[in-house]
Amino acid sequence: MMLLARVAIAIYPGSFDPLTNGHLSIIQRGLTVFDRLIVAVLNNSRKQSMFTVEERKALIREAMPDPRVEVDSFQGLLVHYTRKKDVHVILRGLRAVSDFEYEFQLANMNRKLDPQFDTVFMMTGQDSFYISSQLVREVASLGGEVAELVPANVLRALREKFPARNGG
Ligand code: PNS
Repeated sequence: MMLLARVAIAIYPGSFDPLTNGHLSIIQRGLTVFDRLIVAVLNNSRKQSMFTVEERKALIREAMPDPRVEVDSFQGLLVHYTRKKDVHVILRGLRAVSDFEYEFQLANMNRKLDPQFDTVFMMTGQDSFYISSQLVREVASLGGEVAELVPANVLRALREKFPARNGG
């Protein structure tokens, strides 16, 4: 009897504005559990972002050129996107207890909207539990050093956005 191997795929959704070392760590560790990952950038026209969706996608692709990683974007409800892709598992990183409540709500609301839907959580490593895109944006825009918090290409992109403060 021939057995067909099942490919385990998960969607890793988020704003990624911008990609941080915390996200990268989740992607790298996610690839030890899943065969393929679809990193899906939320295209939210109602929210002001620092990087456009295309810029965010390009930064992710550049930082993670692994053929097992597809980079895509989506609009509207995540459950509509997961159904369209026919992938019913999402991956999310958990940093601290403070993340739990929101993630718990998100996971349960998504499962209410689509009973097939499930969320796999990975704990962020101790090196990145304090990193968030929001803090990276704030620190970088105020001239603080974020070199250890983001991949090199994201650092370059941030320095291009804030040349006067991050120039030297
Ligand atoms: O990186 P983030 O901002 O924490 O990611 C949040 C994200 C994109 C996963 C979440 O906001 C989302 O899925 N938004 C799409 C809209 C949606 O489905 N909302 C209902 C979820 S209960």
